[in-house]
Amino acid sequence: MRFFLTAFTLASCAYSEEKSQVTGSAPTGSSVTLTYLKSAIFTPKCASCHPGSSFDISDYAQLSARVVAGSASASTLYRRVTDAAYGTVMPQGSPQLSSGEKQAIADWINNGAQNN
Ligand code: HEC
Repeated sequence: MRFFLTAFTLASCAYSEEKSQVTGSAPTGSSVTLTYLKSAIFTPKCASCHPGSSFDISDYAQLSARVVAGSASASTLYRRVTDAAYGTVMPQGSPQLSSGEKQAIADWINNGAQNN
């Protein structure tokens, strides 16, 4: 089991390094949509572990339960990618998200965390 988890983690790590970083052309502010976050961050960097038993990041209701719409700093989702005070910084076992990626998540939350 341990070997399996390690192999899985390494595989998802290698995969995410090649995958999209938020770049200059990425949306910012109120133009950040959940569709964008899913394609740029959640699916390539989180979904390998999160459709898990406790948190399926592709499910809007489960995502919403970890967000305080309008306040990134009060949101579990944002705290877990930025601040070790709230637990292992996500994505677990991989490099932290870029500042642009963290900002995109914050922007989406601060704009109401809509299912858009
Ligand atoms: C290698 C596996 C792995 C990856 C990749 C990963 N996580 Fe996690 N995540 C976990 C585990 C295991 C837990 C539960 C233990 C804990 O809370 O530290 C967790 C917990 C969480 C929680 C708290 C869960 C709750 O019920 O409130 C959030 C939020 C979270 N992860 C977000 C993310 C985000 C966002 C990403 C992508 C940027 C990500 N995770 C990537 C393994 C992972």
